[in-house]
Amino acid sequence: MVTVTIDGREASGREGMTILDLAEEMKIPIPTLCHDSHLASYGACRVCLVEEEKSGALLASCVAPLSPGMVIRTDSPRVLEARRMIVKLMLASHPESCLVCEKGNRCQLRQIALDLGIGLSDLYRLPNYSGTQEVNPFIKRDLSKCILCGKCIRADHELVVEGAIDYFHRGFDARPATLHDQALESSECTFCGACVDICPTGALSERDRPLQSTPGASFSSVCPYCGCGCKIFLGVNGERVVAVNPDREDGSGPSPVLCVKGHYGLDFIDSASRLRTPLIRKEGRLVECSWEEALDCVGREMKRIQDRYGPDALAFLGSPQCTNEENYLFQKLARAGFGTNNIDHGNPFNTLPAPDFFGPGLGWGAMTSPLAAIEEAKGILVVGANPEETAPLAAYKIKRAVRFQGANLYLVDPRRTRLVPFARDWLRPRLGGEASLLLGFVRVILDEELWEKEWVERNVEGLKALREEMEPWDLARAERDSGIGREVIRGRARDLASCWPRAFILGNGIWQGVRGRTGLAAAINLALLLGCQRRFYPLGMESNGQGARDMGALPHFLPGYQSWEDEETIKRFEKAWGGPLPRKNGLSARQMVREAAEGKVRGMYIMGENPVRSFPDASRVREALGKLEFLAVQDLFLTETAQMARVVLSASSFAEKEGTLTNGERRVQLLRAAAQPAGQSLPDWKILTEVFRRAGGAPLETSPREVMEEISSLVPFYRGVAYARLEKMSLILPCGDPQDEGTPRLPERAFQAGKQSFLRVPENEFRMAEDPAGAPFRLLVGSTLYHSGGGTRSSRSARLSRFDPRGGLRMNPGDALALGLEGGSRVKLSTEKKEMVFRLSLDAGLPPGVLFFPLSPAAEERVIDLLPWPSEGEGRFPVSTVLEVQVERIKE
Ligand code: SF4
Ligand code: SF4
Ligand code: SF4
Ligand code: FES
Repeated sequence: MVTVTIDGREASGREGMTILDLAEEMKIPIPTLCHDSHLASYGACRVCLVEEEKSGALLASCVAPLSPGMVIRTDSPRVLEARRMIVKLMLASHPESCLVCEKGNRCQLRQIALDLGIGLSDLYRLPNYSGTQEVNPFIKRDLSKCILCGKCIRADHELVVEGAIDYFHRGFDARPATLHDQALESSECTFCGACVDICPTGALSERDRPLQSTPGASFSSVCPYCGCGCKIFLGVNGERVVAVNPDREDGSGPSPVLCVKGHYGLDFIDSASRLRTPLIRKEGRLVECSWEEALDCVGREMKRIQDRYGPDALAFLGSPQCTNEENYLFQKLARAGFGTNNIDHGNPFNTLPAPDFFGPGLGWGAMTSPLAAIEEAKGILVVGANPEETAPLAAYKIKRAVRFQGANLYLVDPRRTRLVPFARDWLRPRLGGEASLLLGFVRVILDEELWEKEWVERNVEGLKALREEMEPWDLARAERDSGIGREVIRGRARDLASCWPRAFILGNGIWQGVRGRTGLAAAINLALLLGCQRRFYPLGMESNGQGARDMGALPHFLPGYQSWEDEETIKRFEKAWGGPLPRKNGLSARQMVREAAEGKVRGMYIMGENPVRSFPDASRVREALGKLEFLAVQDLFLTETAQMARVVLSASSFAEKEGTLTNGERRVQLLRAAAQPAGQSLPDWKILTEVFRRAGGAPLETSPREVMEEISSLVPFYRGVAYARLEKMSLILPCGDPQDEGTPRLPERAFQAGKQSFLRVPENEFRMAEDPAGAPFRLLVGSTLYHSGGGTRSSRSARLSRFDPRGGLRMNPGDALALGLEGGSRVKLSTEKKEMVFRLSLDAGLPPGVLFFPLSPAAEERVIDLLPWPSEGEGRFPVSTVLEVQVERIKE
C-alpha cells in the first residue's frame, strides 16, 4: 500500500493507483474532462491538476501515480488559478452558443466553468467554426465545440474497437475525424454512439432527439433487440422516452456501450403506427372496439373451439420479445386455461436449436460464461457468426481480446466480415463446407490426442462412440467439402488445441447452413473436446429467446425444461395451477401452420410474432392462417398477421411495462415501466390475465412481481430470483435460493448433476444438393446491424429504416463481370417454384458463386418468400437460410 496525505487527510492506496483514483475513493471531488474510468488514462486536458506540496509540482491527478509520502492539495489557490486559466483557454476557442446548445446542463465544460466561477472568458476569442455536415439519422458533429479531450477517439478505439475516427491535422486545426475527413456515413462508423455518450461537450450529439430537452427522470431498462441484453437508461420527459443511454455505472450489466439499434433504434416506441386500441373484425373490416368486447370475443371463441373440436384444435405462438412473466402466463393459458401443449415461440429463422441440441451442461443453449469472459481468452474460434451485425456487444469483446489481450482469433466464414482484419487466421470454406471443416478439426484432435483429457473424462460421455462415428470423416473429405487444404486444417486444429484459455463463438451460419445438424454436432463436439464448454457462446438473435425457453413456451417442456412425462413433476404443476394438464407433446410453430392448413388447428392466439412476414413461404402461411375459424393477434403494430385476425389486442412496448428478460448470458434483468402505454394499449401480461379469467381459469389478479414469485416456486433454477433482489442487481442463472448470488460460470455448477454427452454426427445430411450443378449460385439470406428479427420493431424505427447503407442483393464483382452485370443492374432470381427481381450491388467480400441478401428495415423485397417451407422432420430446428438460385439479367 502507498500512504499519502490528501487535503490534510492521511490515506493509503494500492500500488499503481493514481491520485484521482484515491481522491475518488475518499469522496474528494476533482474536476475532469478527458478522464473516464472505462478508458485508459490519457492526461490531455489538465483540468484535474493538483498540487504536490513537497515538490511544488502541479500534477495531472488522473495520470499521476501515488508515491509514498506525497502531500496533495486538491483545492489550493494555485490549483484553482491553474484550472481557471485552462478552462478560460478552452472557452476562448469555443463558440458562444451555450444557450442553444443541445447538451444544455449536461455539458461538463460549462459545469466546470461554473464551479470555478468563470463567466465569459476574458481572453482574446478565436472560435474555430467548422459547421456540421452529416446527413445520417443518428449522430451530429459540431467540432467547433470540441475541446480535444480525445475521449471519442479512445471510446471508438478502446470500447468498440471500430477505428472509425482518429486525430486529423495538428495544433489549432486538430480535431477528431474519419479517414480523409469523410462524413460519418461514408466511413467505418457503425453509429454505436459510444463517442456521443462520452463527449463532455456538445461537439457530438444525437440527431433528431424526440424532444430537445434534458430528461426529467431516468429508468433502468434493457435493450429489447438482441440476446446480449445491454442495460440501458431510458430518459423520460413527461410521458415520453426522449433519450437512451447505456448504464455506465452498473458493473453487473453486460457493458457500458451499446450498438446503433439499442442506442438509436428504440424510437419505434413512439411510432405513429402503434396500435392504440384493440380492434375487432366487423363486416370484414377491423374496427376499434372496447377492451371488454375484444377480450370477451377471444375468451368466447377460444372456448367454443375447445368445446367443439377439443383442446388440440387450439394453438398458441408466443414471443422471444415478450418478458419472462408474459411467456410464462402465455404457456399457462395454453396448458391450464385451454388444456393443450400446442405452445411455441418465435420464428424458424431466429430461434436457437435449443433446448433439443444443447443439454443442461451447455445451459440449454445459453452462453456458459458472461460475455466479458471472452476477453480472458487467448484463442477464440468464431464459426458461422457475424457478431458485428447480430450481437455487436460480443463483437466488441472479441476485438478487445485481440487488440488488448493478444488473443488469436480463428475465423471460419465464407464471407469477408468486419472481424477479418482482427483474425490471425481467416479460414474461408466453401458455403456449405463449414460442417466438414469442423469435423476435420475434430478428426485431428482425436487422431493426435489433443483433447482435454482430464476435463473430458470428468465431464463428457461418449468418446468411444464419437471415435466410431468419425471414421468416415477423414481429412481428405474435409478438404474436398470445404476447399481448405488438409495441412491447413491440421495446423489450425493444433493451434486451437495449443491456446489456453479458449472461447468458442457459434452463430446461426452453422445451424442454418447447408448441413445444419452436422455442423452443430461438430461444433459442440469440438467445444467439448477442447474444454471450450467453459467459454461457449451460441449467439441467439432475440432479446428473450432464453427466457421464453426457460418459461416453457415450448411444445414439449413445462417451465424449467421439466417434462410432463414425469408424473411427479406434472402433478406438482397440476396442484399449483389448480387443474389437470395435457399429457402429450404439442405442436411446434411450423406444425401449427401445417395443421392449420389441414384444418386440424382451428383457432390460434399469436402474441408478439408475425409469421406472415417472419416465416418462410409467406403465401403458405397466409393460406393456412386464412383457414382458421378464429385468430387473435396481440402486438404493438398492425402487422401483416394482425391484419388477418378477428381480434387484435394492442400491447404495450418494453418501455411501458414491468417485467424481466433473460439474456443469452442467462442474466435476468428488470424492465421498469418508464413511459405511459400508447393510447389504451395494455401490457401483454395484463391482457393474458384477462383472457385467462374468461377461459374460466382461477382469477389472476396479479402483477409481474407475483408472477415471478410463482415462477421461482416452480422452476428450480429461478428459485432465488425475486424482484426485490433484481432491483439491486441482475442475477445469472441458475440461482437456486434467495441467498444464491447466481452462476456466472456455468460449468462450475452445471444445471443438473451428470455429464454432457458428445452429440451424434448425422451420417448424410443435406438440406440441398451437395453439388449445385443446375443452379450455379447459392443465395445466403442474413441479418444486418440495422435490422432485427422479423423487422416488426426495427422497420418502425424512423431512424433505422431511413438508413440502409448497403441494401439490395449483393454479388461478387467477378461473377457480375462474367454475367455482364454491374452495380445497380436488375436481376431475376429463380428457384424451382418462385422468382423475384432485385437491384444488384457489388460486394468483393463475397466468394464467387455466393449471393447475399441482407435483411434490412428498408428492404421492400420479400426475399424470405424465396426460401422453401422446411421439410417434415425438422421439428423446431431453424430453417436453412441458404438457397440455390438461377440468376438472370433483366433488361431495363
Ligand atoms: S468531439 Fe467531444 S469527445 Fe471528441 S475530442 Fe472533441 S470534445 Fe472530446
Ligand atoms: S459512433 Fe461508434 S463507431 Fe462511430 S465514431 Fe463513434 S464510437 Fe466510433
Ligand atoms: S442490439 Fe444487442 S448489442 Fe445492441 S444495444 Fe441492444 S442488446 Fe446491446
Ligand atoms: S482529466 Fe486529467 S488531464 Fe484531463
